[in-house]
Amino acid sequence: MVKHNLPDARILGIETSCDETAAAVVENGRLLISNVVASQIDLHARYGGVFPEVASRQHIKTIYAVVQEALEKANLKPVNLDAIAVTRGPGLAGSLVVGINMAKGMALASGLPLIGINHLESHIYSAWLVPAGGELPREPRFPLLALLVSGGHSELILMSDHLNYQRLGGTLDDAAGEAFDKVARLLGLPYPGGPSIQEAAKNGDPQRFNFPRARPDNKWDFSFSGLKTAVLREVRKYQEEGHELPVADMAASFQAAVVETLFEKSMQAAETYHVKEIIVAGGVSANQALRQAFINQKHYTVHIPEVNLCTDNASMVAAAGYFRHVMGHHDNIDFDAMPNWPLS
Ligand code: KG4
Ligand code: ZN
Repeated sequence: MVKHNLPDARILGIETSCDETAAAVVENGRLLISNVVASQIDLHARYGGVFPEVASRQHIKTIYAVVQEALEKANLKPVNLDAIAVTRGPGLAGSLVVGINMAKGMALASGLPLIGINHLESHIYSAWLVPAGGELPREPRFPLLALLVSGGHSELILMSDHLNYQRLGGTLDDAAGEAFDKVARLLGLPYPGGPSIQEAAKNGDPQRFNFPRARPDNKWDFSFSGLKTAVLREVRKYQEEGHELPVADMAASFQAAVVETLFEKSMQAAETYHVKEIIVAGGVSANQALRQAFINQKHYTVHIPEVNLCTDNASMVAAAGYFRHVMGHHDNIDFDAMPNWPLS
């Protein structure tokens, strides 16, 4: 067992908020015992984004097998668990209810406590995860700043303790991941846009295009729609002139603008609020340029999950579920999905 001064517990996590059907078992909020993710990317790629109705139908088809596999890989039965945690929102309503109903069914059959988890909270708790058999790094220390960047959110959150959040700011329009996805489409790159842009940017010049870095009135807010429009305008110019798009340079210049904005604002917030450590989480934290920016600075200890734990998975749900479980935060069996559930 991973030891800290909290009680031992094994949590089953279930995640179906968007286009990954996922289940995982985590011990004491940190140690990954099993982690199963059935991605629907291939199903949605032809639509250029997530098709909600297709997503919920696919969750229904796979959820049982995914949960079974997570338990089998952990070599555990429900009776060996301490609680079941499931993503309650934000997310796609039709997708969320599939995971929630699976969790409710298991909780009813086993008598285990049920915990509804905020998706943003679970991304933050991915920073606590360590692979089984791996070296055990130190836990993140409070007070800390979390930069949460996913397909639906870009937020700066101050955490003074476990489960204690103060939202400093967030995006006024597109989320960072959404901007990656939309700009990828403009450049003719496949969905999901984040990994495609990262790949294309490898051979590009990040200084060729000076795309805008927005500075909203509240200095902890983000805005990426102007940047997206600037890329669109540049793309149109090339198309009207009949020239080939310099995709690599555009991808690299766009990525540089996003990374610089996210990194600089995080550094300013960390300094202003006197935090000791920073967590970078959510799908966009898989981005190598963003990771490198944080790794290169030496002022703060930075926790960034392993790349495969940055995008949606259930081990982060189980990790957050552990801290809620040991602090006695359980939910009634009749709780509902909350498609817009802000972290507070
Ligand atoms: O957290 P996540 O898996 O799902 C949501 O909660 O939205 O994040 C998905 C987002 C997508 O917009 C995807 O393009 C982006 O994360 N993403 C990346 C990378 N990998 C995934 N963005 C930039 N670079 C990446 N390597
Ligand atoms: Zn997510």
